[in-house]
Amino acid sequence: MTHRIAVIAGDGIGTEVIPEGLRALEAAAKRFNIDLDCQTFEFGSCDYYLEHGKMLPDDWFEQLKDFDALFYGAVGWPEKVPDHISLWGSLLQFRRRFDQYINLRPCKLMPGIKSPLAGRQPGDIDFYVVRENTEGEYSSVGGKMFEGTDREVVIQDTVMTRTGIDRVLKYAFDLAQTRPRKKLTSATKSNGISITMPYWDERVEAMAKGYPEIAVDKFHIDILTANFVLHPDWFDVVVGSNLFGDILSDLGPACTGTIGIAPSANINPEGKFPSLFEPVHGSAPDIAGRGIANPIGQIWSGAMMLEHLGYQDAGDAMLKAIEDVLASGDQGVLTPDVGGQGTTESLGRAIAEKIAG
Ligand code: NAD
Ligand code: IPM
Ligand code: MN
Repeated sequence: MTHRIAVIAGDGIGTEVIPEGLRALEAAAKRFNIDLDCQTFEFGSCDYYLEHGKMLPDDWFEQLKDFDALFYGAVGWPEKVPDHISLWGSLLQFRRRFDQYINLRPCKLMPGIKSPLAGRQPGDIDFYVVRENTEGEYSSVGGKMFEGTDREVVIQDTVMTRTGIDRVLKYAFDLAQTRPRKKLTSATKSNGISITMPYWDERVEAMAKGYPEIAVDKFHIDILTANFVLHPDWFDVVVGSNLFGDILSDLGPACTGTIGIAPSANINPEGKFPSLFEPVHGSAPDIAGRGIANPIGQIWSGAMMLEHLGYQDAGDAMLKAIEDVLASGDQGVLTPDVGGQGTTESLGRAIAEKIAG
């Protein structure tokens, strides 16, 4: 069976880490006899925008909808195109139109990597952020009024639906169910945001009734961010709205040493549309062009993609290769964000070689 993968590198270091993601996928595909047919698209980047006046062609949905998965690098180059135009015109369209309502973001302190948190060892930080990915604070409801006057006002409504909340909660509870600790933490802010967040809490309580074996707690987002730093070992599955999940999924990986290794799976669990796999990080204009970006976020996203396509063994082997190479501590291979002097390519090649076995 052939799996059709649409590859979109995007901008900046997206174009540097994608080739390493593909190298690792190729090694896994060969070892596990997986037939991947990867097709590269130029759209979804700021250079495409500069040429065409839009981030995506009008028929992008038709072009992509029958792929089995999308493998994305990163998008955004604010000096060329304002971020809200490039992101709303590409990545956020994919998430919404392909109904990728789960954004699954693992957070794990790896062997060989020093956490910026004192005394933390591998095993101390090992949780998932499950982020609602299609609604919430990322809404297109609102507008600007009285523009150019001193009465100028901007409004952007948060939209939460019962279906939207319940489906992400169900996914998170089901995930917690598969974990040894069976623990779920909900990110809220129902003390200050007095309509949507109490409703979120209410839905969490309702869902929890169906999962009596799961230990559920909740924290307001402000103290939750503090607890990520002070007590990362408390967390197992953390579920949050679109914005809270976004913030937590940069903070969590930072606590594991670098956001450069963090992967994400934007999932349409029903499989009605393709899911999208991309690193958590962005296009990193500050280091782009130097060949020093850590490719692990992209490679690990590839591992999640193979798992999603049904190849758990191949995904596990990719993650094991990442862990082994990190644990080796080889300064010549590792990228600077994890204490080495190597390059995107040296790290990518070392991982691909391990995957090949
Ligand atoms: P960023 O994630 O691009 O970079 C933040 C910091 O982390 C930078 O110092 C960068 O050098 C470092 N970093 C990121 N990835 C790294 C890697 N693989 N290896 C080593 N260091 C790495 O976030 P930003 O600076 O806020 O955003 C830059 C652009 O990317 C903006 O246009 C933003 O909108 C966009 N962005 C896109 C995505 C996405 O495509 N999913 C995600 C986040 C940001
Ligand atoms: C992410 C990114 C995006 C988000 C941006 C680039 C729109 O930060 O994937 O975490 O906020 O979802
Ligand atoms: Mn983010």
